[in-house]
Amino acid sequence: MEFTRKDFKVGTCEGQKIVHGETMPLVLQPNEPELGNIDNLLMILEKKREWFEQMLIKNSAILLRGFNVKNAEEFNDIVEAFGWDDIRYVGPAPRTHIYKRIWTANEGPLSEFIYYHHEMVLFKDHPKKVILFCEVPPPEGGQTPFVPSFRVTERMLEEFPDAVEEMEKKGLRYTFTALSNNDTSSMRGRGWEDAFGTSDKAEAELRIKALGMDLEWLPNGGVKTILGPRSLTKVFDERDGRRMWFNTVVGMHGKEYSSAAMADGTEIPNNVVKRCEQIIEEESIQFKWEKGDVLFFDNLALLHGRRPSLPPRKVLVATCK
Ligand SMILES: [Fe+2]
Repeated sequence: MEFTRKDFKVGTCEGQKIVHGETMPLVLQPNEPELGNIDNLLMILEKKREWFEQMLIKNSAILLRGFNVKNAEEFNDIVEAFGWDDIRYVGPAPRTHIYKRIWTANEGPLSEFIYYHHEMVLFKDHPKKVILFCEVPPPEGGQTPFVPSFRVTERMLEEFPDAVEEMEKKGLRYTFTALSNNDTSSMRGRGWEDAFGTSDKAEAELRIKALGMDLEWLPNGGVKTILGPRSLTKVFDERDGRRMWFNTVVGMHGKEYSSAAMADGTEIPNNVVKRCEQIIEEESIQFKWEKGDVLFFDNLALLHGRRPSLPPRKVLVATCK
């Protein structure tokens, strides 16, 4: 489809990269500054829904910049313009519901680095799209870096072909410990009551099992959830057969509240995990927020994280099927 005069203008942004010929993120701006408003944006999206979705799969990330999106209500209108179904967030991050389909992004302490992940990677159902909106850009730090996942697999295969194939063949097993009460001093501080939406242990067990996990109650009232086997990489339709690094080994291996090992109990060598962490960093795109930005991720293709930030920083999120 051609751009018409009233549609988008393709721009650039700091940190942008070209990966295998594709620009990440694709930056779409209003053609004229006076068209930088929500009404015009919604009109364009209405017309270009299918095109937009194709471009999102092709480029993995799209940034809408310069449309002066102001608040959760306007952001929700954008999300709803696509007609994608909502998928409810399940996981350890503390989040607050703001408006209709809009939530705060992880409210863990701004001083902490939220490690790269595919959203809800360990669950059976994960969002295809993660959409973020910047209401208040941080004065310093607070970038939302993201990583083309297939590049991590490619580079790990170059350096550790045997370890990669062993992990793939055996599958992975993770554990994650949730505390018994909400503890906002920690990024992982979302208690199991909140994480699973109940304070009834029997009900929590049912819900944990429905998510495909096993569990163990701990003497301190917390719960250790056990997931696995899970695959190391995944290939999704329409994404050029790319093998995505669809796991959370680096994020969970050898941590206070989590672990990652092969499903038969074999440890994952430390040097493999350390090198993978470096590769992920090297392949990352360091995206810096401006006020009113709306950023779309193909969650099947990209890992994302959050850099430590000075306050204030307000980024809202919606997740879609
Ligand atoms: Fe996330």
